[in-house]
Amino acid sequence: MTGRSSFLIVANRLPVDRTTGPDGSAAWRRSPGGLVTAIAPVMQRRDGAWLGWHGAADETLEPFEHDGMHLIPIPMSAEEIELYYEGFSNATLWPLYHDVVAPPVFHRTMWEAYRTVNRRFAEAAAEVAEEGAVVWVQDYQLQLVPAMLRELRPDLRIGFFLHIPFPPVELFWRLPWRKEVVEGLLGADLVGFQLPGGASNFIRLCRRLLGLAYKGNEIFYEDRVVRAQAFPISVDFAELDTLARDPQIVHRAKEIRVELGDPEYLLLGVDRLDYTKGIGQRLTAFGELLDEGSIEPGEAVFVQIATPSRERVEEYRRLRDDIELQVGRINGEHSLLGHQPVQYLHQSYDRTELVSLYLAADLMVVTPLRDGMNLVAKEYVACHHDLRGALVLSEFAGAAGELHQAYLVNPYNVDGVKKTILAAMRATPEEKARKMRALRRRVSTYDVNRWAGEFLTALES
Ligand code: ADP
Ligand code: G6P
Repeated sequence: MTGRSSFLIVANRLPVDRTTGPDGSAAWRRSPGGLVTAIAPVMQRRDGAWLGWHGAADETLEPFEHDGMHLIPIPMSAEEIELYYEGFSNATLWPLYHDVVAPPVFHRTMWEAYRTVNRRFAEAAAEVAEEGAVVWVQDYQLQLVPAMLRELRPDLRIGFFLHIPFPPVELFWRLPWRKEVVEGLLGADLVGFQLPGGASNFIRLCRRLLGLAYKGNEIFYEDRVVRAQAFPISVDFAELDTLARDPQIVHRAKEIRVELGDPEYLLLGVDRLDYTKGIGQRLTAFGELLDEGSIEPGEAVFVQIATPSRERVEEYRRLRDDIELQVGRINGEHSLLGHQPVQYLHQSYDRTELVSLYLAADLMVVTPLRDGMNLVAKEYVACHHDLRGALVLSEFAGAAGELHQAYLVNPYNVDGVKKTILAAMRATPEEKARKMRALRRRVSTYDVNRWAGEFLTALES
């Protein structure tokens, strides 16, 4: 594909990251996180282009094709990575929008870099969009792009989707650049959120901060109407369901259990190593169940897979140390020769191995302190056509708004998490099957294609 596009995705990251092999050769690796998981299948089914950063510093690359997608790399300097990506995006906005579970930092130089990089994305999109094209801007790293792009190209249909929670007015109010951020988002025709609560927080903010009038989900801004609405994101159910039925994956799932010493219960956690995910809370609960003897030594194994993430941001470094210390303590106290109760893997896995793990696991333990949606929870459900398995899910994950039949927990309540883990472990196969059937009905109906279809229909209408 060459020239201009009628459909554009604009996201901080491309779906692939540039890496350098041991021999110095360049290679591509799937980028981490839920945004890429959700948008890649949408993009593969459409003609269009994806603009984003390719994960390396100080490198300008030509557009290229990858896995059925046309990708346009946006360059970033080492200083911009530090100030815009690690700084304003992930040390200011990320904790602020996740209910300040870590303290956000506010620095003017970071804000300046955020503006500069947002402008670069807007200019790149303005250059490659056809007349009247649909441009879909993604996530908190690019909240200024809608207004910047509208100024350059008023002919475009501009959508924005926030993958993370949108905070209550009282928290957002702390941001020194709150007005600029809200005006940036109002450049879109449609602003999408994971949950209705996010959309209503945004509408309230527009009224309080800018004195804007609204009716239902329509905000009246300048001479336009901006809609703010919830579109809960999802997974590619059919792809995961097919993979989970593949005989090689079924075989691998059995093999994984054997490799782990054939425990009666296999508990699984899969996350980016992020302080919002409540990894420490779930390990505390598991550790205490071992301490008290509610789980016998050798009876259960907890596999925690934690993809390295944002490793140069201070809070993430501290988290890694804390989790590794905690794992070491639990294993030190409860390991038997040849058996470790917690298997901790600070690694990224390919899709097939991940699906095998989901299939092998008796319990999926998803305990974020705050999460926009949490696709891992939905992936687990999509992999259990066998109706085995139980999902323990935090009430603070967006997914809890849909997955009512999960074993819901408050991750701040350690006793509650312990009780619920035990209840899920000891539930009868009939109860688990009944719950799993209901969960699968929801995830298969509201899959990622429906999510994208509903957003784009609303944007284009
Ligand atoms: P977030 O977007 O905050 O990372 P989600 O749960 O919504 O959280 O999405 C995470 C995505 O990353 C999922 O698609 C999951 O399968 C994938 N993922 C998480 N951990 C790993 C891992 N260790 N290896 C490979 N993929 C992973
Ligand atoms: C979450 C965010 C995405 C982000 C992903 C991975 O899913 O919503 O925007 O891409 O985490 O984080 P990273 O900082 O590695 O891009």
